[in-house]
Amino acid sequence: MFDFRSLTVPVVGAPMAGGPSTPELVAAVSSAGGFGFLATGYATAAKVREDITELRQRVDAFGMNVFVPELISPDRPLLDAYRALLAERAARFGAPLPDEIPFSDDDFDAKVDLAISESVPVVSFTFGIPSRVVIARLHRHDICVVITVTTIAEARLADDAGADVLCVQGPEAGGHRSTFHIADTPEKAPLDQLLAQVRAVTELPLLAAGGIATAERAVAMLALGAVAVQVGTLLLRTPEAGTKPAHKDALADPQFTETVLTRAFSGRPARALRNSFIDEFSAAAPAAYPYLNTLTAALRKAAAADPHSLNLWAGTGYRHASTEPAAVVVAQLAARIAELRCAPAQPALS
Ligand SMILES: Cc1cc2nc3c(=O)[nH]c(=O)nc-3n(C[C@H](O)[C@H](O)[C@H](O)COP(=O)(O)O)c2cc1C
Repeated sequence: MFDFRSLTVPVVGAPMAGGPSTPELVAAVSSAGGFGFLATGYATAAKVREDITELRQRVDAFGMNVFVPELISPDRPLLDAYRALLAERAARFGAPLPDEIPFSDDDFDAKVDLAISESVPVVSFTFGIPSRVVIARLHRHDICVVITVTTIAEARLADDAGADVLCVQGPEAGGHRSTFHIADTPEKAPLDQLLAQVRAVTELPLLAAGGIATAERAVAMLALGAVAVQVGTLLLRTPEAGTKPAHKDALADPQFTETVLTRAFSGRPARALRNSFIDEFSAAAPAAYPYLNTLTAALRKAAAADPHSLNLWAGTGYRHASTEPAAVVVAQLAARIAELRCAPAQPALS
């Protein structure tokens, strides 16, 4: 089974659904000695199969990430009120707002089957724990199971369920918080604290994710017991990332001065650059993932060039996102991590 402790570079490229994760990006991270994750969220299993075929021509070591579905009955009046609130902005871009939104499990079973048939070495799960049957199937095929956790309680549950590795995601992280339940209020304790607490309750290897954009921060997370750091935002502006151009530009645009947590785009809490969409709609956004995600999808697509109508996912370290090739970003981070870890301890002052 794949062991993250065997990586030559303790850097994992985060799965980033919705465009940024391309086979080129995943391959660049793995080729640089790190480990790249392919996002599968919102993509069909058929598209993921194509991506895996493309990836296999470049690298063997990569993982895929799958969203665990949670069946909820959305509050219809709240959803209708939210649709009405969005109408003016949707009309501005000529985008339709669907009336009927079917539930989608994001092709969960087909993606698990694909991981097995394609012998993908690592599968990470987000938004919950897959069933014991799924974990047992992956284990029978020697596939390493990573579960993303955001609290100590989730870490305990994931360990009990048979995870091989935990990805500990702190509140600084860009994109969705991987809370196990859609309605959960995400915890605010910073990654350092969460990582130390999780380290104390499990022996499992840990990946640390959230706001890690410098070697200093990475080394601090490794010192707290992580085997590797998982970086997302740091890679969003690289040429290999399929991030929308308006999103890439916004990460370096001085008009965007902070990141905030919002349910406005998808119904799940996610960290993004604060823009006018967030300011106007966050307060009314119901906890109704994936319904809200589908509701706003056409609007976001039509408004792809307007950074104030896009979900500009970003972690707190967004100002460090580089336009260098991903392999260079990973190599530079790795070199500085190695330098810092080898640096002699400061002599005590006498
Ligand atoms: C644009 C974007 C998309 C993301 N999509 C996913 C995803 O599909 N699956 C997942 O597990 N995490 C996703 N994340 C969260 C990352 O796995 C990771 O927790 C986060 O990027 C770490 O924080 P950082 O962005 O500050 O480095 C996404 C993050 C970003 C920025």
